[in-house]
Amino acid sequence: MARKIIIDTDPGQDDAVAILLALASPELEVLGITAVAGNVPLALTQKNARIVCELAGRTDIPVYAGCDTPLNRKLVTAEHVHGKTGLDGPQLSAPTMALQPEHAVDFIINTLRREPAGTVTLCVLGPLTNIATAFRRAPEIIAKVQEIVLMGGAYFQVGNITPTAEFNIYVDPEAAAEVFAAGVPLVVMPLDVTHKALTTQSRVDAFRALSTPVGDMVAAWTNFFERFDKEKYVSEGAPLHDPCVIAYLLQPDLFTGRQVNVMVETGSDLTLGMTVADWWRVTKRAPNAMFMGDINAEGFFNLLTNRLARL
Ligand code: BDR
Ligand code: CA
Repeated sequence: MARKIIIDTDPGQDDAVAILLALASPELEVLGITAVAGNVPLALTQKNARIVCELAGRTDIPVYAGCDTPLNRKLVTAEHVHGKTGLDGPQLSAPTMALQPEHAVDFIINTLRREPAGTVTLCVLGPLTNIATAFRRAPEIIAKVQEIVLMGGAYFQVGNITPTAEFNIYVDPEAAAEVFAAGVPLVVMPLDVTHKALTTQSRVDAFRALSTPVGDMVAAWTNFFERFDKEKYVSEGAPLHDPCVIAYLLQPDLFTGRQVNVMVETGSDLTLGMTVADWWRVTKRAPNAMFMGDINAEGFFNLLTNRLARL
């Protein structure tokens, strides 16, 4: 039986690739895609999620719009990386599939209430606002979540939007702090992992060599967003962050990490949104997350390319 997942996301080119990977994988049943404000405002992320479903030929996937601002802060966006639309690069047409009328948070709550306990995994690719809001509103659903697998945070790589914070956590640190403290089984793909999943020339060429609309699109998206990171990190490619979440569900042995305590800084202006991971286990704080530290990058890109070939 396929594993049931909800993808909570703020597309973003790397979110788009993650969604495509999930839709290409028969081991996963995507119950719905919930959009949140993050890389770009909500009006664009929900639209982008529908564009990606249409690209995959999956207009049957329900897409919901969720929270348009963090719990109690002003939205910070990342057009400097993803462009004005969030999916800048290739020319895209407006989606024709409808947005669902239900709010994303209601969809998350109703789905977790309806499905048997321990059968729905939340794949979180953006700020944690929708998830924290659902947990606040319906705390009884927390115990029903099978697992949360999220892209966010950093320990050794420290930060990408500030010197000490990763973007998804920084945008809504209060939401992240609540989710990390909720007691849900949690797997974290931090920058420590994603900065090793680089879109080198040969990997992008492999997408293009698929000679399909999906392969061409992924190559074009990659070309667009990597210009910023290549310059910033002086690297041979950009980190392909969000697909690591989906790849973990398909092939967990691509990743290694440690079960440690992770807390999110919400009080300091200097280090706001920092994920304080007790990697060396120097405190007695109880572990609350599997915090990944390494990836088999070749295996990851092989998996991704092979799966995209199916679309
Ligand atoms: C994360 O922030 C966004 O820009 C990406 O989509 C990814 O989810 C990386 O810090
Ligand atoms: Ca994202």
